[in-house]
Amino acid sequence: MTFTPEQFVTSSIIKYGKLNEYIQEKLVSDFSAIKGNMMMMEGLRSYIQENLETLKAKQKIEILDIGPAIGALSTLFTLQTLNEFGLMEKAQIHLFDVSAKVIEQTLNCKFFFPDSIIDPKLKNPIHQKLRQAKGEVGSAEKLPWKNEKFDIVLAGFLFSHIHDSVKPLVANEMQRATKKGGFIGIADTSEKKTFSSPISTKPLEKLFKETRITFKNNKPKDTSYTICGEK
Ligand SMILES: C[S@@+](CC[C@H](N)C(=O)[O-])C[C@H]1O[C@@H](n2cnc3c(N)ncnc32)[C@H](O)[C@@H]1O
Repeated sequence: MTFTPEQFVTSSIIKYGKLNEYIQEKLVSDFSAIKGNMMMMEGLRSYIQENLETLKAKQKIEILDIGPAIGALSTLFTLQTLNEFGLMEKAQIHLFDVSAKVIEQTLNCKFFFPDSIIDPKLKNPIHQKLRQAKGEVGSAEKLPWKNEKFDIVLAGFLFSHIHDSVKPLVANEMQRATKKGGFIGIADTSEKKTFSSPISTKPLEKLFKETRITFKNNKPKDTSYTICGEK
């Protein structure tokens, strides 16, 4: 099945054009994105605690961030969370985005985040991980990896940027690419004013049939939520 570009809700990051300005003025100041990703880290932390020995035994922890946007906020938080358990060294980051500029700029660390997001002590090792990351450009309804490649698959505010008709395909691909027992982390929003294709937790959960939902945070007062699970 192929889709025309019109069937996608184009990401605002592409429409903006001035990408550095976007990341500084929009994403970083976007409390909702930061909060959603921080909630996702609560789910990741519980997952790591339950699977610590298995993760420690791995040579590499393969991590896929789909729709990272410049700066890969979900990846930054994930690396810091892995570091809490002494696992950051093992991380191999893969970034996948429909925008080539997102990939190019993030791999070259051409972005700015305030120090309050990155622990200053971790800035250098995190930048090094991003420089060593692998980047691919494409649309998430077809991921260019074999089945069960990744230990951790992240989608921060991806589903609210893609057309409803494509969402089930993206969820299937995320599950296909995740190892059995691997972690799937989603942060997103059902807020209609700012986001072009919002989705609430229940319909999104239904798309993840092969995933056992292990952590949810969906408080009515928050504009963002997280759903985390294990395949
Ligand atoms: C709001 S940003 C997400 C930023 C970040 N992940 C976070 O959690 O804050 C949405 C990202 O999804 C990407 N994107 C949009 N549609 C996509 C698609 N069909 N396939 C892959 N990436 C897509 C955009 O280019 C953008 O980088």
